[in-house]
Amino acid sequence: MRTDNDSWDIKTGVGSTALFVAAARALGGRDPDAPARDPFAEHFVRAAGPEWVDLLEGRTPEHPLLTPDFGAQFQQHQIGRTRYFDDFLASATAAGIRQIVILAAGLDARAYRLAWPDGTDIYELDRPQVLAFKRETLAAAGFTPGARRHEVAVDLREDWPKALRESGFDPSAPTAWLVEGLLIYLTPAAQDDLFTAIAALSAPGSRVAVEQMDPLPAEAVAAMSEGDDAGSEWVNMIYNEPRTDTTAWFGAHGWTGERVALTDYLVRLGRTPVGAGPRQQSLISLVTVARTATGS
Ligand SMILES: C[S@@+](CC[C@H](N)C(=O)[O-])C[C@H]1O[C@@H](n2cnc3c(N)ncnc32)[C@H](O)[C@@H]1O
Repeated sequence: MRTDNDSWDIKTGVGSTALFVAAARALGGRDPDAPARDPFAEHFVRAAGPEWVDLLEGRTPEHPLLTPDFGAQFQQHQIGRTRYFDDFLASATAAGIRQIVILAAGLDARAYRLAWPDGTDIYELDRPQVLAFKRETLAAAGFTPGARRHEVAVDLREDWPKALRESGFDPSAPTAWLVEGLLIYLTPAAQDDLFTAIAALSAPGSRVAVEQMDPLPAEAVAAMSEGDDAGSEWVNMIYNEPRTDTTAWFGAHGWTGERVALTDYLVRLGRTPVGAGPRQQSLISLVTVARTATGS
């Protein structure tokens, strides 16, 4: 169960979810038709310990990420969202935005993986141990970021806007904000506070991309909680409560945008949603909102 001031590193609690999604990206990217690939994910997974190497080498076929129902869907979900947010960032930089903020960056290696125009600043916010694991793993493998990468080691339940400004963030410049794989780990009230802070720091022309998940049905939660596996651990880490719709929240604050269901987005990419069994991925939506260039 979560508490208001719980903490974690890359292998424990909420931090372990960053490793789990990185593993899904590594595995999902092996599909020859994958709509996105993240070669850095494999570096993180291998650095996390022998049990993770076993997963990549196929020595743990019973691992949840390899099952034909949950595993297949989850890999496709992660690769699909990677493509969505990669495209969001490419479109933001094409429009001239040079300030990127990745909230709950986890093992997101976009600062290293994507092509960035000169003069781009990327602010990555997450807990200190998570950012340190990323930096140390990629430095040991000889990689350097392709943009100015600023680590902002902070808890998003605390005064992160202050930490962001102190790291050099310029609120007068338009920003592209990324909120991928985060909202369900915040209470609905903390999510509203997060949106309020993003909007307050967004100059005209800023954009926000968000992954949001509708609450799991009560029966699914009950079934998952009964096990003693990764599913039950995860369901105890999330705040499975009704929360503000992202498009509606930003719409009410003068922004415009669009929400697409993940499954529809996959179809748009020419992919057929995979996997048998309950479709957790049908609860996921991808959202992009923008503040008009004149400000509103
Ligand atoms: C599922 S991972 C997603 C990471 C990354 N955005 C991605 O999609 O690969 C969730 C991340 O949220 C971070 N996180 C969750 N709650 C947080 C909080 N209150 N403060 C800072 N980081 C938080 C965790 O440390 C973890 O890295």
